[in-house]
Amino acid sequence: MVKQENQNHYLLVTFPAQGHINPALQFAKRLTSTGGHITFVTSVHGQKRILNKSTLISDGITFSPFSDGYDDGFKSTDGGNNDEAVDRYMSEIRRCGKEALVDLVVAHANGHRPITCLVYTLLLPWAAEVAREYQLQSALLWIQPATVFDVYYYYFSGYSELINDNINDPSYSIQLPGLPLLKSQDLPSFFLPSNTYSFGLKLFQEQFALLLEETESFQILVNTFDELEPESLKAIDKFKISGIGPLVPSAFLVDKGMSDKSSEGDTRDYMEWLSSKDKSSVVYVSFGSIAVLTNKQMAELARGLVDSGRPFLWVIRSGENEPKQQDKDENERYKEILLEEHKGMIVPWCSQVEVLNHTSIGCFVTHCGWNSTLESISMGVPVVAFPQWTDQGTNAKLIEDVWKMGVRVRPSDEEDKIVKSEEVIRCLKEVMEGEKGEELRKNAKKWKELAREAVKEGGSSERNLRAFVEQIGLQ
Ligand code: UDX
Repeated sequence: MVKQENQNHYLLVTFPAQGHINPALQFAKRLTSTGGHITFVTSVHGQKRILNKSTLISDGITFSPFSDGYDDGFKSTDGGNNDEAVDRYMSEIRRCGKEALVDLVVAHANGHRPITCLVYTLLLPWAAEVAREYQLQSALLWIQPATVFDVYYYYFSGYSELINDNINDPSYSIQLPGLPLLKSQDLPSFFLPSNTYSFGLKLFQEQFALLLEETESFQILVNTFDELEPESLKAIDKFKISGIGPLVPSAFLVDKGMSDKSSEGDTRDYMEWLSSKDKSSVVYVSFGSIAVLTNKQMAELARGLVDSGRPFLWVIRSGENEPKQQDKDENERYKEILLEEHKGMIVPWCSQVEVLNHTSIGCFVTHCGWNSTLESISMGVPVVAFPQWTDQGTNAKLIEDVWKMGVRVRPSDEEDKIVKSEEVIRCLKEVMEGEKGEELRKNAKKWKELAREAVKEGGSSERNLRAFVEQIGLQ
């Protein structure tokens, strides 16, 4: 895109989770390439998760973090039970975030570069309130697939009773207009009555209540691209919904990957290790930045990986799976399994995009967080889909049945719904061997090419982004 300075000043506010910050930052970078200025707002702790700030600042992004009282990060064990602690955190971030946004809007209104548009990611209904109170143009940056947006939209506009009455039945399926047939396991986990995170549904409900009052010109910018979700992007005509992704670092969307220093404690010896392996032979395993598997599940996964006989690189975040008294033995068991043979490498964090871009990677065992899914698509890596919660079941459905670039694990019928080691082995075999594996790899490659086309000059996402910027400039 040709960069021409313009007066557009975007206040971009994001929830301080890695899966929200990463796409928001990429979006900010794309906006700077259109000549606009960006003030990027998140919590102090969220800001600590941003790497390479100096490069971003020189690109024209100003950072304006606010303290939400949890500058060292929020843990759901921070006092009280889970729900109480999360509720307390959510109300603090709402109070402090709203105050910070108002201060910024007022300060800029009276000075240099007034804000022309407030863009917010999901879970922030209070940002939408600020836009309304100060009559600012605004847009929602939806960091999950368009299909998931549509499912929530339908849920909050008449389908909730039907879904609530049936979701506990695993054989139930629902045909929502313009979407693939979705089974209970494919619907967002926040709909489940057993959902332990009641805050999630409450926030989505608040966000959609505000959205439903918006006019038809309201813009929803989705981290997806037209070719990937053509029907879902058009299913709802109540708003202007456009694909502007994949919001993956642009350096990785050209054919030659670029080295990008990851986080603290990231020694990068894993890149050297990957280079010592054969092409497409390594299984990369990561469950994103939030999900925590039980120790029993970790032991089954470890057994499956070791017994599959393939080299693997597994991200186990530090602090994750610390032994709880009652399942200390299970914890010891998965560690023993991993030490048994030296086939795998365990890291606390890595530069995931760079790893997925490495030629030795043959398969990604993922929780199907939307960023991980898009990164896999953009690097052309087939997937073993191992969803945990929120949008991940829907994403796994799309990966397996719509884009046909992976297989989804089947949990056992036992009460704890563990995915057994034999199932892990079966899925790895299907993805990495035989005719089916060949087909999945071919499809993954096709999606990679389409993803890269979408963000090139003249590609669908680039055009949609330009149309958004022009509309902001015209107001
Ligand atoms: C959350 C939700 O859980 C997810 O379902 C939703 O779609 C987005 O928000 P998260 O669980 O963290 O996100 O997963 P994901 O969306 O995949 O984002 C994780 C990000 O962290 C990715 O961009 C990934 O590249 C990065 N990452 C992860 C690393 O850079 N290194 C790692 O070792 C692991």
